[in-house]
Amino acid sequence: MTVFAVYFVFIKDYEPHQPIAFSHKIHAGVNEIPCTYCHSYVAKSSQPGIPSVMECMGCHKYVKAEYDPKDPKRIYKFKDKLINPTDYLYDGRKRINFEDEIKKLTRYWENKEPVPWVNYHYVPEHAKFPHKPHIRYGLECKTCHGDVENVDIPKPIVNIKMGWCISCHEQVLDKNFKELEDIHKGISNLSDLDKRIMTHTGRIPTNELYKDKKKLGEPWGSSDSSERIINIDKEVAWLKDCSTCHH
Ligand code: HEC
Ligand code: HEC
Ligand code: HEC
Ligand code: HEC
Ligand code: HEC
Repeated sequence: MTVFAVYFVFIKDYEPHQPIAFSHKIHAGVNEIPCTYCHSYVAKSSQPGIPSVMECMGCHKYVKAEYDPKDPKRIYKFKDKLINPTDYLYDGRKRINFEDEIKKLTRYWENKEPVPWVNYHYVPEHAKFPHKPHIRYGLECKTCHGDVENVDIPKPIVNIKMGWCISCHEQVLDKNFKELEDIHKGISNLSDLDKRIMTHTGRIPTNELYKDKKKLGEPWGSSDSSERIINIDKEVAWLKDCSTCHH
């Protein structure tokens, strides 16, 4: 009875929230397609980008998943789990056939229409989240999105709170700060109050660090013709500036 109820409530009526039951696990996991192959703008632009039908068809002109449902060889293995492309439980809830789903894609291609993917935005209008600086810095997708290659549908980062952004930015600032400490030994001599002000505001009172402001900055080689000046504020403060994340 329970199994019966579960089937009707969760499996039968379940419709994927996207026009095609596209699986990240089958693409990024089983077939090891890199995230950036499809989300190719992630390191170049604020939006990661969703691949166009043409890009999907680059593979799917050839990959059609036409299997004989009676052929036992169609079933393959991934991480000790069996995958049956003619009867796959998508998102743990909906039975799909790869061939049929790929046919939906082909229909968009033939009609020269884009796939109307539902585009979710979780960061509210008044804040901005650009991917580019995060990826350039070397953060992995997994840090924020979890193990996308193991699931059909990436879990949305719902309920984004400012504290989530800030606490990571603070860790980055701490790291930047430690690196600065290596260059500017004076930092270690700051009073605790100054250090607290600094970690709170991200700013270093430069007058406490250097007597001669003109000599502020990294050690420079004797070959450098002019004295190099670095702006400590710029290096450490902006990650917590309101205007960094707010319009
Ligand atoms: C073969 C192409 C392809 C690959 C490879 C791919 N994606 Fe996607 N991704 C898509 C498409 C298409 C969508 C839009 C449909 C959807 O949301 O499932 C999408 C959507 C997403 C979303 C938004 C989901 C939502 O509903 O909010 C995230 C996050 C994401 N991908 C992360 C990743 C990560 C991380 C990887 C690598 C582990 C990856 N993708 C690999 C094609 C791809
Ligand atoms: C680099 C090649 C490649 C690209 C690009 C690619 N796919 Fe696939 N796709 C595959 C392979 C390989 C399979 C697995 C076929 C199998 O197991 O028989 C697959 C399976 C599928 C399936 C059936 C499994 C599932 O996810 O439900 C669908 C639907 C699909 N692809 C849609 C898309 C869409 C939409 C895009 C573009 C956003 C896309 N693919 C881009 C290679 C690709
Ligand atoms: C620092 C955290 C962080 C990292 C790292 C990160 N993302 Fe995101 N991603 C987000 C947030 C936050 C959103 C929601 C953005 C919004 O609401 O506009 C998002 C949204 C997305 C979306 C959906 C965009 C849309 O228009 O629907 C995709 C696709 C995506 N990320 C792919 C990736 C990929 C691929 C990587 C790795 C190369 C990656 N992300 C790394 C935080 C991150
Ligand atoms: C896991 C760590 C992490 C999380 C979570 C995170 N960030 Fe970042 N953020 C970084 C790093 C690292 C940088 C780049 C620092 C650098 O380039 O020195 C950065 C840079 C930025 C920038 C600077 C862009 C520029 O170049 O002017 C903005 C804006 C930003 N983040 C917004 C956000 C927002 C909004 C969120 C939450 C939705 C968020 N970040 C969550 C680590 C994170
Ligand atoms: C690292 C990015 C980041 C920085 C820096 C940042 N914010 Fe935010 N802020 C966000 C994000 C993302 C949200 C939306 C999520 C939320 O409501 O918690 C937000 C939400 C808010 C809200 C709305 C809260 C609510 O409950 O609706 C206010 C007000 C705000 N920020 C003020 C500030 C002020 C003032 C500063 C500077 C001291 C600041 N923020 C710095 C990312 C940031």
